[in-house]
Amino acid sequence: MIQIYPNQEALSFGAARLFVRQAGHACKDRGRFSVALSGGRTPQRTYEFLAQPPFRDQVAWSQTHVFWGDERCVPPEDPRSNARMARLHLLEKVPLPPHQIHPIFCAQSPKEAAQDYEDLLRSFFGEGPPRLDLIFLGLGEDGHTASLFPQRPVLKEGERWAAETYLSQQDLRVTLTPPLINQAAVVAFLVAGATKAPILKEVLEGPPHPHRYPAQLIHPSSGRLQWLVDKEAASQLSRALLRAGSETVVFQVERK
Ligand code: 6PG
Repeated sequence: MIQIYPNQEALSFGAARLFVRQAGHACKDRGRFSVALSGGRTPQRTYEFLAQPPFRDQVAWSQTHVFWGDERCVPPEDPRSNARMARLHLLEKVPLPPHQIHPIFCAQSPKEAAQDYEDLLRSFFGEGPPRLDLIFLGLGEDGHTASLFPQRPVLKEGERWAAETYLSQQDLRVTLTPPLINQAAVVAFLVAGATKAPILKEVLEGPPHPHRYPAQLIHPSSGRLQWLVDKEAASQLSRALLRAGSETVVFQVERK
């Protein structure tokens, strides 16, 4: 399902509503809510919405567990850290018990960090399937998502739930893998801005080239795939696609 919002502010508000709704279902059904946050710029406003009323008071933070879809192997205070961004815009502002925040620690070797994260996920999910209730993902202009970048070996990972990826000597990362992501109950891509219009069209309407456009690897086996996009990012999508599976969400968010 593709939801088209008039602008990024409305998209961010919609994503916060999705978070609250999914948290409510999960806590009611299973007594806990597990979510994997994305890095990048797009989700920041969503995190800010969640950190303030009304959304802040609508989430059972004491039953919430926060994970990450990926992390850069940098010190926790490094501006490139995804966990730092989420901490600043959300986690420091809500009553989430610290032991329920599960960052990817990868200042040491990415490979060990990936194994540690998989161990953490295995202990969290126990014997059950590793089914995160919600995963937020972004979309890079090259078609990457999380840290699943084009033509990287990690794209072929069929077993592991977390893996290392080396973009350059200075850019080492750990990412959740498609086998893990595709077990989620809801995967929500947040895509905003005109610069994403070409890649969004390619990913959604182009021929399948998942190793060139890794976002095409994301199709939950039994969960729901949700695209929250703004009008600018959706500007190149065809009418046929929009008719087939989208809804235009028209609510406006009054800037406070
Ligand atoms: C990261 C994200 C990455 C991001 C995309 C889109 O670590 O940066 O995991 O996959 O979601 O690059 O980023 P923007 O939201 O900044 O466009």
